[in-house]
Amino acid sequence: MSSTAASAPAVHATITIPGTNKTASLPLLSGTLGPQVADIRKLQAQAGIFTFDPGYGETASCESKITYIDGDEGVLLYRGYPITQLAEKSTFLEVAYLLLFGELPTEAQFKDFSHGITMHSMLHEQIRRFWEGFRRDAHPMAVLCGVVGAMSAFYPESVNINDPREREISAFRLIAKIPTITAWAYKYSIGQPFMYPRNDLSYAENFLYMMNAVPPEPYKKNPILERAMDRILILHADHEQNASTSTVRLAGSTGANPFACVAAGIAALWGPAHGGANEAVLKMLAEIGDKKHIKTFISEVKDKNSHTKLMGFGHRVYKNYDPRAKIMQQTCYEVLEELGIKDEPLLDLAMELEKIALEDDYFVSRKLYPNVDFYSGIILKAMGFPTTMFTPLFALARTTGWISQWMEMIADPQNRIGRPRQLYTGAPQRDYVDIARRG
Ligand code: CMC
Repeated sequence: MSSTAASAPAVHATITIPGTNKTASLPLLSGTLGPQVADIRKLQAQAGIFTFDPGYGETASCESKITYIDGDEGVLLYRGYPITQLAEKSTFLEVAYLLLFGELPTEAQFKDFSHGITMHSMLHEQIRRFWEGFRRDAHPMAVLCGVVGAMSAFYPESVNINDPREREISAFRLIAKIPTITAWAYKYSIGQPFMYPRNDLSYAENFLYMMNAVPPEPYKKNPILERAMDRILILHADHEQNASTSTVRLAGSTGANPFACVAAGIAALWGPAHGGANEAVLKMLAEIGDKKHIKTFISEVKDKNSHTKLMGFGHRVYKNYDPRAKIMQQTCYEVLEELGIKDEPLLDLAMELEKIALEDDYFVSRKLYPNVDFYSGIILKAMGFPTTMFTPLFALARTTGWISQWMEMIADPQNRIGRPRQLYTGAPQRDYVDIARRG
C-alpha cells in the first residue's frame, strides 16, 4: 500500500516538554476524508515521551483504504460507497469483492469471484469430526473459534503469508466456508443432520438452506428472507478498526496465518460490548418484559452503581444515529410483514425504549443513539434464529472485513509488529526477600 498520507506533510504540530529543552515536531497527516492525524512515530526519539491512550480512542493504528466512518454525521462508506446504496443495490458477494479488491467487479470479474467462492464452500470431511468433540450445548461462538483456528491444520500452505496467491486462496476459503461452519454449529446444537452447501444457491440463500433445511423435506426458498439475510451480511461486513478487526490486525502483525488471526477476531467479537450486543439486546428486552417497566429500567441504566447498560445503544465512533440501525429498522418491518407477524411485542417495546431514551437528557448529552444491534436481534428472532446464533451471524459477515483488512495489512510496507507501550504504575525496582523473612 502506498503511504500517500505520510509522504508529504506540509504542516507540523509542536510539542514542548516543560522543564527540558526538548521539542518534538509532529507531521500532521491528511487522509482523503476525516480529521488530520498527528504522526507521533518520532515523538519518543525527539522528546523522550510517549502517549497514553487506553482503549486507543485517539490513536490511528494503521493507514487503510477500506472503510470510512464519520461518527458525527452518521456516515459509513465501504471503499467510498455509502452503506445505504450498497444495502439497497448490491449483494453481499459483490460487497465482499469490493472490500477485498477495492473496486466493484465487472460482470466477468464477479462471475469468476462467485465461482471461486462457491467452489470452496465444502469443509474437509475430517473437519466434520471435530463436532463430535464439542458438547451439544456449547455456545456456537466457541465452536466457530475452534474450527476456524483449526483450519490452518488443513491448509498448511496458508502460513506462506508473503505469497499473494496463498493469501488470496485463504481469503476465499474463509469467506466460502464460514457459512458452512456457522450453520453446522447450529445444526449440531439441535441434533439435526448437517446439510452440505448447495452451489446453485446464492451466498445468503445457501446459508439459510444449511440452517433450515432437513434431508427428508424439500427446501422452500423465500426471496424476501434471502434479501434480508443478504442485507444483514452487507451491514456487518466491515467497520474499520473496531476491537475484533484490530485484534485480527494485531495477531496478523506477528506473521501468524490468516485462519489463526480470524479465530482471534471471532474471540474478540464474542464480548457483549462488541458483537455479543445483539444477543444481549434480546435478553434485555425479555427482562424488561413490558412497556410499563421501561422507566424503571432507564433509571437503573442511569444509576452509575448498577453497571446496567442500554444494550444496542452507544458507539465508540458514532455520536449520531448509526446508519446501519436505520436500514436494520426498515428491514425489520419488511421481514415481519413477509412473515405475517402483525404484532411483535419485542419490536413495540424496542421502539418505545428508543423513543424514551432519545428524549432523555442522559442519552442526549452523551450522544448515545441506537447502533446496528438494536434492531438486528428482532429481525433474526423473527427469521427463526435462536439468540445464541446472533453473534455467530455477525462473525460470518465480518469474516470478509477481517480478511480484507488482514490482506491490506500484509501488503502494506509500513506493517510492523503491533506492540503498544504502557504507563507503568507498579512497584519500583526492589530486592528479593527470602520467604522466612517476609511478613
Ligand atoms: N447505556 C448506558 N450508558 C452508556 C451506554 C449504554 N449503552 N453506552 C455508553 N454509555 C455512557 C457511559 O457510561 C459513559 O458515561 P459517563 O460519561 O457518565 O461515564 C458515556 O456514555 C460514554 O461511554 P463510554 O463507555 O466512554 O463509550 P465507549 O466508546 O467506551 O463505549 C460501547 C462504546 C459500544 C462499548 C458502549 O456504548 C456500550 O457498551 N454500548 C452497549 C453495548 C453495545 O450495544 N455494543 C454494540 C456496539 S455496535 C456493534 C459493534 O461494534 O460490535
